[in-house]
Amino acid sequence: MINVGIIGSGFIGPAHIEALRRLGFVQVVALCDSTLAQAQEKARRLNIPHAYGSVEALLAHPDLHVVHNCTPNNLHAEINRQILRAGKHVFSEKPLCMTPDEARELVALAEQAGVVHGVSFVYRQFAMVRQAASMMRAGSIGRLFAAHGSYLQDWMLLETDYNWRVDAALGGASRAVADIGSHWCDTVQFVTGRRITEVMADLAIVWPTRKANVAGNQTFVHDEHARYEDKPVTTEDFGSVLFRFDDGSKGSFSVSQVSAGRKNRLMFEINGSERSVAWDQENPQQLWIGHRAQANQTLTDDPSLMNPDAADSAHFPGGHIEGWPDAFKNMMAQFYRAVQAGAMPDRPAFATFHDGANVMYIIDAIVESHQQQRWVRVAQ
Ligand SMILES: NC(=O)c1ccc[n+]([C@@H]2O[C@H](COP(=O)([O-])OP(=O)(O)OC[C@H]3O[C@@H](n4cnc5c(N)ncnc54)[C@H](O)[C@@H]3O)[C@@H](O)[C@H]2O)c1
Repeated sequence: MINVGIIGSGFIGPAHIEALRRLGFVQVVALCDSTLAQAQEKARRLNIPHAYGSVEALLAHPDLHVVHNCTPNNLHAEINRQILRAGKHVFSEKPLCMTPDEARELVALAEQAGVVHGVSFVYRQFAMVRQAASMMRAGSIGRLFAAHGSYLQDWMLLETDYNWRVDAALGGASRAVADIGSHWCDTVQFVTGRRITEVMADLAIVWPTRKANVAGNQTFVHDEHARYEDKPVTTEDFGSVLFRFDDGSKGSFSVSQVSAGRKNRLMFEINGSERSVAWDQENPQQLWIGHRAQANQTLTDDPSLMNPDAADSAHFPGGHIEGWPDAFKNMMAQFYRAVQAGAMPDRPAFATFHDGANVMYIIDAIVESHQQQRWVRVAQ
């Protein structure tokens, strides 16, 4: 058995735990949260044997092999550093950290440590996204012309919607782009096999002041009896980005956390010289395949109809709909196969610290582009 410790058990920590429990060869033995009392309460509810109130205490747990960092963004760099220094395999929530300098440092540390390192870019693990990537690799989409789409949510629509992500000190200088644009970029780079090298961005703050619940705001939780205080907002609610890939092809995407009715709508369309493909996370079992001279197709996540190199990402016969928790399981399965082997694979299908750093450079270029109102090159 591989022994795992989880740091942070708010919204996403329990999703990691559930996915790990579905693997069968991994056990979550310890959990750490901001306070010992909170950790003990969460550990009891999630049925985890050991609870700790500090990262140091969790890292000292005997025979711990892997540690997941599921804390807010401002803690990612420091906790990732601590995990690497302790010589543990590390799986970090996204974004990898808050600045490009931290990203470079963490990549170097991970390489030195010789451990398996992963970042939680989960959307590339959906069966139909893996299928689109396989079609691109096999040449059936043809020469890449363009990629475009959006990632839209509505959970920050109201002035009273508030979360640590709004505060640049805790979430980072960018909010919507770093929080969800990061996922869009990773997914589309994974499908196309191309890197975004230049960006031109225009960002918007629709609520320059928000009303924060004085008792604190949990992610995606609404409190009817809240009392509020005004908080100035410096992070974007909406953004549009034009970009260029490394092969000269082009694209654009929009991100929004204030689009009423859109809950988690990550959508992309890829146009190639042979055909197009399009995918929408809210309807994840379908891949739209667009043709010029024949009727368009909708492929569903039936493993017997998928390309052989993507079919292992769908686990049930066609018609048994798989979604976000299944993509999470796929991501953990990829990562833990590497942990079992004791080394990074040559071509990992999960996002690594290299991918996490690359996306940090894209976010940084997007923020700079918006500030300077010009095209900006993405650092390598
Ligand atoms: N991959 C995805 O699809 C996805 C989805 C949601 C969130 N996330 C990422 O997960 C991270 C956490 O987001 P969330 O929505 O779960 O936030 P959250 O606020 O719900 O949970 C954060 C948790 O971290 C704990 N924590 C805070 N400080 C700590 C410390 N010093 N030591 C230990 N624990 C500490 C909190 O008590 C809480 O349990 C973010 O970085 C976010 O970007 C990723």
